[in-house]
Amino acid sequence: MKEEAISKLKKYNQEHILKYDLNNKQQEELEKQIENIDFEQLKSLYESTKEEKCIEEKKIEHIPYTDKTKLTKEEQLSLFEIGEQVIKQGHYAVITMAGGQGTRLGHNGPYALDTINGKKYIFEIIIDRLKKAEKQYNVTIPWYVMTSKENHQDTILFLEKNNYFGYNKDKIKFFKQGELPLIDTQGKIILDENAKIKEAADGNGGIYEALSKSGMLQELKQNQIEWIFISGIDNILSNFVDPILLGLTIKENNVIASKSVAKANPQEKVGVFCKMNGKPKIIEYIDLPEEMAEELDENGELMYGEVNIGTYLYNRSVLENLANAKLPYHAAFKKSGYLNANGKFIEPDEPNVFKFETFIFDAFTRYDDMTIMRVKREDEFAPVKNRTGNDSPETAVKLYNEKYK
Ligand code: UTP
Repeated sequence: MKEEAISKLKKYNQEHILKYDLNNKQQEELEKQIENIDFEQLKSLYESTKEEKCIEEKKIEHIPYTDKTKLTKEEQLSLFEIGEQVIKQGHYAVITMAGGQGTRLGHNGPYALDTINGKKYIFEIIIDRLKKAEKQYNVTIPWYVMTSKENHQDTILFLEKNNYFGYNKDKIKFFKQGELPLIDTQGKIILDENAKIKEAADGNGGIYEALSKSGMLQELKQNQIEWIFISGIDNILSNFVDPILLGLTIKENNVIASKSVAKANPQEKVGVFCKMNGKPKIIEYIDLPEEMAEELDENGELMYGEVNIGTYLYNRSVLENLANAKLPYHAAFKKSGYLNANGKFIEPDEPNVFKFETFIFDAFTRYDDMTIMRVKREDEFAPVKNRTGNDSPETAVKLYNEKYK
């Protein structure tokens, strides 16, 4: 191994990597990885796992929202027309985030569901919706797909093989998000079965940097895209072409927006929108004090009842501003296979490594305001997160079938 790589490993207490018996090719690949890894960052991420979480001074307040179903016909129409114009003029694009690992689902590739409309891949369901919008607005909306190193090639091949489910392939672009090494409880990097340093996607908050680094941000600008809708691949009812949301955001003079659905009950385990220290924020259910979770407003509705469904609208200027934003990392303790000191691949039964991720919505606190539009849950929210039970393919298909029956 090159001297440079060796001294880097030594400097950061990672010399255990030098003890593996590797062939030339493996050595070369490893060197490349070592060259690209920011070990200083990794060291501070590891330190952060040992720190006590400091309790910050938090002032939690209600965030205003608009209930789409409570808008009058005239209000809906006038907002629709504002949004429709932007879409028809070709200033609107859609991004699907598909870089996740899908560990809870136990699947990290194109996933097919048995729907009322036949067997459909989730990608196909998304493209169906894009094709519908194409007909409705007479424009082919550009579609960008964020992948990760793990699934980039497979995703492209899959869509190519399926002829992009009939969408114009010139309007589809793929871009890869960044990744970070996993580290064990001693802060050591690990090797996978191919003797490569095990890395994983750096969370959906990696989208801001990825858009910029991949040149997509520049592309959006060149194509005069002004508004971009970003949502995950894991909500099969995501309604990502919504002129009313767009019209409302423009009318409210905001540059970020999100849809929400009403929280089913105070105990539902979901993140909800609020204002924290005056800024828009998604507060996780474990961080919302019980009495606040149950608090009602003057209409008898939950004060903190706007559930985050991972469907966001951005003005391009926001994505440009956030290109170099440093978002906080969240550490998750996960299970990961690794090569032990004897070069044997071990699949642990218990979590053994830290994975570091940033969250896309952590950027919202940088803005004073955002538009929140409540939509009907049954219309726009059918998450596919877990293999069985809640938010599983089974429950999502049921919701999909209800909508399309
Ligand atoms: P989740 O936060 O549910 O993560 O993703 P996940 O990795 O897919 O699933 P688990 O946690 O391993 O079970 C929400 C959305 O963000 C995307 C996912 O593809 C999904 O659409 N995502 C998540 C990324 O694009 N990149 C990431 O690094 C993480």
